[in-house]
Amino acid sequence: MSHKSPKDFFAPLAVGAPAPLREIPARPSRAIHFFDPSNPKMVDKIPQMVGTVDVLLGNLEDAVKADNKLAAREGLVRIAQETAGLGGHSGPTQLWTRINSLDSPWVLDDLTTLVPAIGDKLDVVMVPKVQGPADIHYVDRLLAQLEAKAGLTRPILIHAILETARGMANVEEICGASPRMQGLSLGPADLAADRKMKTTRVGGGHPGYLVREDPVGGDIAGERRTFQQDLWHYTIAKMVDACATHGIYPYYGPFGDIADVVACEDQFRNAFLLGCVGAWSLHPKQIEIANRVFSPSADDIRHARRVVAAMGDGTGAVMLDGKMEDDASLKQCLVLVELADELSR
Ligand code: GLV
Ligand code: MG
Repeated sequence: MSHKSPKDFFAPLAVGAPAPLREIPARPSRAIHFFDPSNPKMVDKIPQMVGTVDVLLGNLEDAVKADNKLAAREGLVRIAQETAGLGGHSGPTQLWTRINSLDSPWVLDDLTTLVPAIGDKLDVVMVPKVQGPADIHYVDRLLAQLEAKAGLTRPILIHAILETARGMANVEEICGASPRMQGLSLGPADLAADRKMKTTRVGGGHPGYLVREDPVGGDIAGERRTFQQDLWHYTIAKMVDACATHGIYPYYGPFGDIADVVACEDQFRNAFLLGCVGAWSLHPKQIEIANRVFSPSADDIRHARRVVAAMGDGTGAVMLDGKMEDDASLKQCLVLVELADELSR
């Protein structure tokens, strides 16, 4: 994989200019585990989590009380400085942060504190409530200035949360707004509120959002089965298309009902099958679910490798187990093989 040099990243980006398609110097990540750096119970667990999860994310935004914003920021600096193997692109676990939103009084202090202190450890900055490319340009410029001042040679990447109706309308431009763009996450709670949807859950389905099967023999009074639909299908599919267009990673976001591990796994799997590479984890038990669901299964990898081998030079068609495989199905199989290879690095 060819990497852009830091010089390319630091070159000024003309506002509004589309970022070039490029390979991103970032790994896919199955679980992005959120912790509150101002919460001592959570912080105590961090050292032993390194190596067990792809990403540890120090959350500074929602779920951190206003009175704790400073403690969370300072706590994250301490954790990054004191925890071996965390962040810096080479360790087993990446270090991300979610900064406060751009319309909050805290975000400037978040960036001006974190980049000089732990910019060498910080892999990705997650930006909430992104409305359009101008928000990404703003963070990109700030990062470039702070990185240059701190003498950093490795660019900090940007991940945007898709959680406003306006952000949805501008999703393509957001993905292409900077060569730093690493990926997008769905933010179902804020997005539901902004769209005036009627679910009060954080992600997942709703028992009222269903289809009912047609009456058998016209008997509308008879028993008819109902099936719950996925509230997030359209949004995830749109996000996946925008990310694929710009060569960055799409992620399902949070699943708030920690006790409902079955529904969490279903939601994660739907997102994986639609093209997402990972999801957020709000509790250690969601890490195991995400690691499993967002890794291609051994059977799928075996089958994919058989197709790749059977397709020889990659052109034409072959029959395998009674099924037709051709150039296009080879590409489908390569998606699984390449993901498996990336995850095993
Ligand atoms: C996440 O931030 C959400 O709003 O769902
Ligand atoms: Mg949110």
